[in-house]
This record gives sequence, C-alpha cells and structure tokens, in this order.
Amino acid sequence: MGSELIFRGHETQPVADAYSPKPPKPWLSVIRPIRYMLREQRLVFVFVGIAMATLVFTLLPSSNVPIYNIPISNSYLTSESTQPHRIIYQNGHVARFPSFNSGGKIPLGLKRKGLRIVVTGGAGFVGSHLVDRLMGRGDSVIVVDNFFTGRKENVMHHFGNPRFELIRHDVVEPLLLEVDQIYHLACPASPVHYKHNPVKTIISFTPIQFRTLNMLGLAKRVGARFLLTSTSEVYGDPLQHPQVETYWGNVNPIGVRSCYDEGKRTAETLTMDYHRGAGVEVRIARIFNTYGPRMCIDDGRVVSNFVAQALRKEPLTVYGDGKQTRSFQFVSDLVEGLMRLMEGEHVGPFNLGNPGEFTMLELAQVVQETIDPNAKIEFRPNTEDDPHKRKPDISKAKELLGWEPKVPLRKGLPMMVTDFSQRIFGDHKERGSSTSSA
Ligand SMILES: NC(=O)c1ccc[n+]([C@@H]2O[C@H](COP(=O)([O-])OP(=O)(O)OC[C@H]3O[C@@H](n4cnc5c(N)ncnc54)[C@H](O)[C@@H]3O)[C@@H](O)[C@H]2O)c1
Repeated sequence: MGSELIFRGHETQPVADAYSPKPPKPWLSVIRPIRYMLREQRLVFVFVGIAMATLVFTLLPSSNVPIYNIPISNSYLTSESTQPHRIIYQNGHVARFPSFNSGGKIPLGLKRKGLRIVVTGGAGFVGSHLVDRLMGRGDSVIVVDNFFTGRKENVMHHFGNPRFELIRHDVVEPLLLEVDQIYHLACPASPVHYKHNPVKTIISFTPIQFRTLNMLGLAKRVGARFLLTSTSEVYGDPLQHPQVETYWGNVNPIGVRSCYDEGKRTAETLTMDYHRGAGVEVRIARIFNTYGPRMCIDDGRVVSNFVAQALRKEPLTVYGDGKQTRSFQFVSDLVEGLMRLMEGEHVGPFNLGNPGEFTMLELAQVVQETIDPNAKIEFRPNTEDDPHKRKPDISKAKELLGWEPKVPLRKGLPMMVTDFSQRIFGDHKERGSSTSSA
C-alpha cells in the first residue's frame, strides 16, 4: 500500500480544544504582591531596613565633643518652614520670599535639605557654639576666621566632616563664596583685644574705602541672608533703663571703647543701608553679655576673669565700687536667639540677653558660691567709659521671635567652670589678666 500524506490542517478543531484565556481576576494583582511580601518574612526585613536607615540618619550629625546645649525648643524649624518668608521692612512694607528653611515636618527616615552657611568668627566663643548647632541641624558650614581670638580647638571636632570647612581669612579682605546665609560674628569682642588694635576693630565691621563690609557685599552678590552680631555697647552708658531697641544710646565717640561701640553702630547703619538700598535680606542682633564654655580665658570680660581668678585662688578684681550692673546670658540661649532671628521674618534690631541684672559684687558672690567661698575681692580704679547699667528689655524678641533665655546664672556658671578648670589646669600658658565689667 502506498502511503498517502493527507493534509488535515484545514479541518476544524473541536471547539473544546480551542485556547480560551481565563477571565481576569482583578483582585489577583493586589493579592500577589502582598503574598510576595508576606512570604519568607520579607515584610519584616523591609521594616527593619527602614528602622536602621532612620537610626543612622538621626545619629549621623551628632559628635562626641561636648556641645553645651540646654534643652531648647526647635519649633522654629518646623512652624515657619512651610510658609514663604515675609520680610517686614522698617517702613512697614512686607515682601515675601521663598522659605530659606527647608526644614519642616520631616517624614520618618528623610532629612531636611541642609543650607550652606558662612559663620565669620566661627572659631571664637559664640561662633563655635553656633557652628555646633548648625552642623547638628544638618547644614553645611564654612567657618571664616583669622584666629585673632578664636581657636582651632573650638571647631576641630568637625574636622573630617564633609559638611564642614574652615578658612583662615581676614574679613577685611574680600571673599567670594556661594552660600544661603551669612552669620557675621568676626570681630575682636573683648576690651583687651579690641583695645589692642582699635583700628582693625573698627574696620572689621565698617568700610574702609572699597572694603565696605565685605560680608554684606558678599550677601548682595550671592543673594544670601546676612545676620549682624551687634552689641549692647551701641547703647553706650545708657540713660534709659532697661534698654529698649528704640533707644539710640549714649556713646562717647572719642573714648577708648568707641572703636568697638562706634564700629558696631556703623555696622548697623551699613546693614540697614544694604537692606534698604540693595534689597539684601538682613537681620540685626544686639547681644548683651554672654558667658559659657570656650570663652577666651583672661580676655578682660568680667565673667571669664572672675572664674579664672577663683580657680587659680587669686583675688577677684572688681573695678570701681562694684555697683555697676550687667545681665549675663548663657551661650546656648544666645545661639538659639540668633538662629530664630536668622530663620524668622523680622529684620530687627533685637536685644538678645538675659534680663537678670547683677551688680559686679553680686556676680563675684555667685562666683564665690560656685567655686571658692573663700575667694577674696580686690577693688581697683574703674576703667574709662565703663557703662553704669546694662539690662535688656527683651519684649520684642519674646513677641516676634518667641525667644527668651532659659538658663539662669547659677545653672550656667558651673558648666563654664568645668570647661575653664580643664583648660587652666591642663594648660597653664593662658595667664595675666585685666578686667572690666564688659
Ligand atoms: N560674647 C559676648 O558677650 C558678646 C556681646 C556682644 C556682642 N558680641 C559679638 O558677638 C560676636 C562674637 O563674639 P565672641 O564673644 O564669640 O568673641 P570671640 O573673640 O570669641 O570671637 C570672635 C571671632 O572672630 C575672629 N575674628 C576677629 N577679627 C577677625 C577678622 N578680621 N577676620 C576673621 N576673623 C576675625 C576671632 O579670631 C574669633 O574667632 C562678636 O562680633 C562680638 O562683638 C559678643
């Protein structure tokens, strides 16, 4: 029999064999990923991963160096950040800017975007504490300092952190940096230092031909916000007590302190002129006597001198009759005030100080109670132009910045004593002294 090839392709297949896709089950697309996640405890690993990432990002910016922060609210980081910034000009005009502060309510595990910030004088006493807070917040910080009174030791715990840079530079010379904010602190701040080089003191803050407040020029060029650390010394020997920001002061323009007092007054003028004339966003803080760890030892400021003298078993030198008054704020309170001012919407000027008022004799008594009850007091003739009274009225800062100091003298002083005794007894080089009630 011959074989025959028979083509059957054209024959229709029985209907039962035809491919018919199953009707789609919409719930499967939801169930499948859920099942996948539940199998082999995958979900648990995801949660563990999120928790670990959160922990790492939360702990990363902290440092081992003592950061003298008293618990403070950081509400200013959250409340304003979702709002555009409003700048209230002196003439009442209100301008809105996009918020600088990229803080706000941060979802778990995510960090706020840091700002780029210059702190001139950041290796000094106040500056280094400010740098600690800014670094802790996650910002990138550039310290510009000529080390006239500042010390590398104050900031060296940030060395190696990629968000930190230190530039040895004198602010009387121009400098170009791309930044969002400028805290301008660089200035010899204690009588011993500013009297040492009065001309340099005044030009750190004022114009000499084209060096016009280099930092304000920088703020203008790069569109940064500029904060000036002015001083209660702008009130001179005040005829109004306590001092309100609207008081214009009583300064001797030709006295030994005027390089500092008039330097800061001119700096305020310039700051406002850049604001009004060039639209630079500015902030002005008038700082009252501040104390705390990392203060220069023997710099002629009354708290540091009393503490150093008591620790060395030397008599506490009181100038004049000791009845002149000052108000002393702990450094963490000041730093909190400066940051609120920078992040807030008001130009200022704002008094930042502790309204607790002490005579020099009362201060000496607190130092005796804290360090050595047997410490002697020695009276010396008063220094020239030493103001008789100083006490800030801080109603404006309370109302507009929601700020007031939290650390009383008797609580802050022991923290300073610990730091001073480590530095004095570990290093006996810093000796020699002269005091005024600055
Ligand atoms: N501490 C207070 O009680 C107080 C009171 C009122 C105002 N202030 C102001 O606060 C700011 C900081 O004061 P502080 O107590 O930390 O003083 P500080 O002397 O410890 O710090 C000043 C810093 O500025 C640096 N500096 C000085 N001149 C400079 C220059 N030309 N270029 C670059 N860096 C320079 C110094 O090296 C130092 O690190 C100052 O502007 C001061 O006038 C302080």
